[in-house]
Amino acid sequence: MTTTLHVAGELVVPGDKSISHRSLICSALAEGTSRVRAILQSADVHSTAGVLRALGVDIPALGDDLTIEGVGLRGLRDAAGDLDCGNSGTSTRLLAGVVAGSGVTGRFIGDASLSGRPMRRIARPLEAMGARVELPEHGGLPMTIRGGKLRDVAWVNETGSAQVKSCIMLAALCGGVEAKVVESPRSRDHTERMLASQGAEVWVNEQSVLLHPVPKLAPLDVTVPGDPSSAAFFAALASLAPQGELLLRRVCVNETRIGFLAALREMGGNLELVGRERLAGEWIADVRVSGGASLRGISIVREAIPTLIDELPLVACLAAYAEGETRVTGAEELRVKESDRIAVVVGNLRALGADAEELPDGFIVRGTAPVLRGRVVTHGDHRMAMAFGILGALPGNDIEIDDPDCVAVSYPAFWSHLASVTGS
Ligand code: S3P
Repeated sequence: MTTTLHVAGELVVPGDKSISHRSLICSALAEGTSRVRAILQSADVHSTAGVLRALGVDIPALGDDLTIEGVGLRGLRDAAGDLDCGNSGTSTRLLAGVVAGSGVTGRFIGDASLSGRPMRRIARPLEAMGARVELPEHGGLPMTIRGGKLRDVAWVNETGSAQVKSCIMLAALCGGVEAKVVESPRSRDHTERMLASQGAEVWVNEQSVLLHPVPKLAPLDVTVPGDPSSAAFFAALASLAPQGELLLRRVCVNETRIGFLAALREMGGNLELVGRERLAGEWIADVRVSGGASLRGISIVREAIPTLIDELPLVACLAAYAEGETRVTGAEELRVKESDRIAVVVGNLRALGADAEELPDGFIVRGTAPVLRGRVVTHGDHRMAMAFGILGALPGNDIEIDDPDCVAVSYPAFWSHLASVTGS
């Protein structure tokens, strides 16, 4: 590849999406006034805010410094109209738990992508707890949840989904019952951390999370750290550049979220975490990434998947420029994300001229440093648009993204940030 790509400067990536959803939900369920700063203002988080409003919570318009009056653990009312979750699986699954435990009724709807995503994974534990769940034959949306008196639950989180774990915990919390969720490897733990910071009784070990009922939650006072899944795109870009240095400020470096940084380092990327500190129950740091890396292919297996699940399309794209073969396995969950991310990333890479292959549970990409030309079909998947957006910034490549605006789901400023760090 001929390249003169130069990446430099500093970037404050937007607030973490997972923590942003949870900060709205946990503020709503608290007693008293919560304060949330630096929340992600993206389409998915707007969906969570909209659903909470429909359930009777006075969520203000999203801004940099929010004050939220909680309604308490039993303060929600029946939904006024359908609960529209847009494209957001996290909104749907976490709020389904809240509705089930609150003894109210709500009908969840979403866009075409979300409506096709699997909801039986939450319907089964919620039914085991005593809620009633109505699903269409295909197991997606629309989904009606009728909360009731719940009972204790012990559940094995077979898909390793943090959304399923969080759904069960929130249902138990609102319903005043005990929940044990067993999982291995552990999925992202933001719900556990946030609830514990509000006085909930949560015990965590390597295999499970246990939540005991509490009468109320204390209000939150949080500053949402930067999203490592958004930072990943720019860490990849800086690593692909022959020179330059990029500083990604105040990124969430929670252990359950930094698999991409570990993978990039193993591939030969030059990066370091600077000034690690604790912020409202989460770890943050600046991530300094330098160019000039010679990247090599790696293997990523099941145990690591939850720590970089959302970054795997980017790994596939990066792997096209890493010497040798990159192989990802144990990642069948990718098939039920905003798109079938195995088929979509491999299909697009091949169509553009890279050497990629689907596996039932992952993919293989052979790094040939190709010159990529053509049109990316994102299927409206924000992470697909951004991963190929990074490849499109490499000199010599000529990549058109069919739906660049879909980045609004998680990172509305993505294209302007890309322009700012590449000086284009
Ligand atoms: C999320 C969990 C992950 C991730 C999603 C956000 C969360 O989904 O892919 O973007 O906030 O809990 P799963 O838990 O279904 O793997």
